[in-house]
Amino acid sequence: MPGPLTTNELIDRFNQTYGRPAVLIARAPGRVNIIGEHTDYNDGFVLPAAIERETRIVAAPRDDGVVRLVALDLGRETAFRFAGVQPSHEQAWSNYVRGVAAGLLAAGYPVRGLDAVMSGDVPIGAGLSSSAAVEMAAVQAFSAAGGFTVPPAQAAAIGQKAEHLFVGTQCGMMDQLASALGQEGHVLLIDCRDLSYQPVPTPADTAILIADTAVRRQLASSAYNERRAQCEAAARALGVAALRDATLAMLAQVDLPDVVARRARHVIAENDRVLETVAALQRGDLHKVGSLMAASHASLRDLYEVSSLELDAMVELLTAQPGCYGARLTGAGFGGCAVALMAAGAVAAAIPAVSEAYRVRIGLNPALYPTRAAAGASVARI
Ligand code: GLA
Repeated sequence: MPGPLTTNELIDRFNQTYGRPAVLIARAPGRVNIIGEHTDYNDGFVLPAAIERETRIVAAPRDDGVVRLVALDLGRETAFRFAGVQPSHEQAWSNYVRGVAAGLLAAGYPVRGLDAVMSGDVPIGAGLSSSAAVEMAAVQAFSAAGGFTVPPAQAAAIGQKAEHLFVGTQCGMMDQLASALGQEGHVLLIDCRDLSYQPVPTPADTAILIADTAVRRQLASSAYNERRAQCEAAARALGVAALRDATLAMLAQVDLPDVVARRARHVIAENDRVLETVAALQRGDLHKVGSLMAASHASLRDLYEVSSLELDAMVELLTAQPGCYGARLTGAGFGGCAVALMAAGAVAAAIPAVSEAYRVRIGLNPALYPTRAAAGASVARI
């Protein structure tokens, strides 16, 4: 993907498009999840970090309740009125921003219209939450334009609702929370039941390596929603509010369809793995962290069935590298990215080695890039 536009280029594009000066620049990052997959919508635990790739929106307020938005990377533009804003079938790419506008209005914020241009370098459909980045950047842009602030947890909830109502993915809140709350140099242990969180420093001398399989997610929304429904069915059968409250012993007592039982086994064990990972990080036991990541991947592959040939190959190749503690698919699955935790000094050699081996085995060009844990969404005046 070409390099992102610089801030000055974005401001120039705004001026060219609207013929007036820009007033604000909002930004929000994508995220990578270290462990805790498909646990968020089960009221469970997750351990994501915001990444050094982000969506940026350069904007100026309007007083007529109209939003005009140009997506520079897509070469598309849209315009809509706040009042009664609906999802657009023709301009589906804009539904994240439309949904955020609707959510802010419903929450009672004094929203103003906007002229805006948007650009970013979070790859789309790669499992790195490009959509949450757009949503959280949009919250920042609208709030700065309207002169109000939205607490991060509410911003995340508005983004999640935009996905539910305007996009059709019944997602949890991990992506939006990570994008809103990210802290440099930290992963975030988030309890998705009460939305409390604890920043955990990323260990010294390690690197987070993202490995994009170059396969975009297929049919992700329907398969994702189906997994969520299976988890809810398991929770109902177990008589608990969410799988967060279930144990493997409880699961052994009930008679569930095999597929539902396997989904529940994944979620219950994955929640435990998140807490074990945090404990291992805190005592500096990176080999333990790596083995928990490996167990997470195996469970996502075998029990939750959201991996793919390409993700399995990528994880295997990453894991075989000298200095790799562990690797797993990250995000919803069904294509997209793997993540590895590596000794910092081992990354430079691993990137060409894994890229070449993946090309030979799968026949696609992957993208591998290290990232540091980055800061969450913010906005500044220009
Ligand atoms: C997607 C969703 C998140 C989460 C992950 C899986 O990224 O948006 O809410 O469920 O999948 O862990």
